[in-house]
Amino acid sequence: MLQIAGPAALALASLQADDVHFLRSLSKAELHAHLNGSIPINTILELAQQYSPSIAHTTVEDKAVAKTIERLKSGVSLNEVSDFFYLFPAIYALTSAPQALQTATCAVLQSFLNDDGTNGPQCTYLELRTTPRETPHMTREDYLETVLIEMERYPATQAALIVSVDRRMSDMDIEECVNLAIKFKNSGRRVVGIDLCGDPLKGDMQIFTKHILRAKEAGLGLTVHIAETTKNTPEESQLLLSWRPDRLGHATFISEELKDEFFADTPQQTMLPECDTGITKPQARASDANGWYKPCIEICLSSNLLCKSVLSLDAHHIHDYLKNDHPVVICTDDVLPFRTSCLGEYALLLAQRPLGLGLDRKDIERLAKMGMDAAFLRPRT
Ligand code: IMP
Ligand code: ZN
Repeated sequence: MLQIAGPAALALASLQADDVHFLRSLSKAELHAHLNGSIPINTILELAQQYSPSIAHTTVEDKAVAKTIERLKSGVSLNEVSDFFYLFPAIYALTSAPQALQTATCAVLQSFLNDDGTNGPQCTYLELRTTPRETPHMTREDYLETVLIEMERYPATQAALIVSVDRRMSDMDIEECVNLAIKFKNSGRRVVGIDLCGDPLKGDMQIFTKHILRAKEAGLGLTVHIAETTKNTPEESQLLLSWRPDRLGHATFISEELKDEFFADTPQQTMLPECDTGITKPQARASDANGWYKPCIEICLSSNLLCKSVLSLDAHHIHDYLKNDHPVVICTDDVLPFRTSCLGEYALLLAQRPLGLGLDRKDIERLAKMGMDAAFLRPRT
């Protein structure tokens, strides 16, 4: 059984058995989960046993890996989003060979999609994302092939892959990742989208534009981590939004003006210029019945609380979107450091304040459906 801790565990523990049964019975889409941030701790420990820096050819020393594993076991304490990125070099040291990556992918898919005999599966449908990583043991293509082989053991109605590009990547790296995503998609493999991720304070977003537009033209869905910190400027958000992503990760500090544009029931022309994609319009996935742009917001409550980007559930930006009936999907982000689960995140919706948002069952049913509707797998209209 998946062990959770922190805000999600407290919310879940506060619920009656009948409420938990209700949450379990909902069809849930997990659309924002990072592979290397979602490895079950037991698998990390197993991989650590096999870990040898000389085999891994990494600059991450034994001691750094051991220290990170201890932090992950006892629960990480973070002061801001950027603290969180220090965890990944050690995790990457453990998953740098194809065999280890295969073990990790298999464990992540099982933890989301298999019935563990006590709880049922965490979610009905998973769009798992990962950044293709070149290591001394594999090319980026090998990396994606390894992940896809594991993913394709599940039916297409259950699991699909989003290829992440990292904000720190060079023009050539982005080009390679996008080319691979398009190539796999065009050969009928289970790639459904592109994600922009990585340290929100790094990178030059301009260089991504041409690659992202190419990915869209190839029919891939697009999601971008956006406005994760107060230092991400409205100009940067506008640039990312000009790509017309189908979904937005976090969107914690999107300016009020931009939010107003999402909620407006008039055409969005002022703050939201669109890049000329040359694609026949409309790109209907992120549009409402009138054709207005309504990107689905990927909400990760525990992640935001633990990274301290949101100070309390009462202050969470989800309230703005709920009030305005704007599409959202409830997701986990990285269950390894945040020690949560899909059920735990839904418990945060249902639990009474201050442990949860205190939403009623009807609202939560509506949210779960919105999540399923925001999947990239849906045939494009
Ligand atoms: P991977 O892409 O499977 O290697 O998953 C880990 C990577 O996901 C990290 O190195 C980050 O780049 C990215 N990531 C995980 N969580 C976040 C987040 O909240 N914001 C931005 N990037 C993230
Ligand atoms: Zn994320």
